[in-house]
Amino acid sequence: MIVTPNGFRKGLTVWFTGLSGSGKTTLSSSVHDVLLARGFRVELLDGDDLRNHLNRDLGFSRRDRDENVRRIGFVAELLARNGILVLVSAIAPYRNAREEVRRRIGNFMEVHVNAPLEVCEKRDPKGLYRRARAGEIQGFTGIHDPYEAPLDPEVRCNTHQESVQRSTDKMIAAITKYLGSSAPRFAKIG
Ligand SMILES: Nc1ncnc2c1ncn2[C@@H]1O[C@H](COP(=O)(O)OP(=O)(O)OP(=O)(O)O)[C@@H](O)[C@H]1O
Ligand SMILES: [Mg+2]
Repeated sequence: MIVTPNGFRKGLTVWFTGLSGSGKTTLSSSVHDVLLARGFRVELLDGDDLRNHLNRDLGFSRRDRDENVRRIGFVAELLARNGILVLVSAIAPYRNAREEVRRRIGNFMEVHVNAPLEVCEKRDPKGLYRRARAGEIQGFTGIHDPYEAPLDPEVRCNTHQESVQRSTDKMIAAITKYLGSSAPRFAKIG
């Protein structure tokens, strides 16, 4: 773990990847709330959100999806190098793009938010699967386009088997462990 001259540790990027409806936004928001309450300087970059701003020119071709991941990774890197704990929730379906970001940023934790396609499709919180099945959306991940699951993620949360609370607890434990025993000094306000 690298310690900067002012005693703050370098930031950490925690990337929640998984199918649409697997629970990335739900889980990362829950983790965000706990970390904030504990006084961490933490930022949440949600893929959907950024597609309305920074990435609004991008579509869903492989090239655009990879560019989407690259840009989010770039922002995460800027924040992380200022000692901020960055949570990213974005599908990031291609393994290569995730690995490229990992290599670039360093301090990187990959979290596979995992649930079978059938479960995600049944949840369908935004009605996207229904629209994809109806042919209203093309190139939908898991239906027309691939999702390359992480082979060796730092954490896997099986959201069809564990509660949001259980996954949140697991994540807080993993992040705390990653940051080491002096974690309270990490990027704290004040
Ligand atoms: N254990 C669980 N963990 C997370 N979400 C769960 C769990 N059980 C049920 N859910 C529900 O599954 C849905 C997950 O939706 P969410 O928007 O978080 O998915 P997402 O992965 O961010 O999808 P997208 O890629 O489309 O943004 C929510 O409605 C949530 O309440
Ligand atoms: Mg989401």
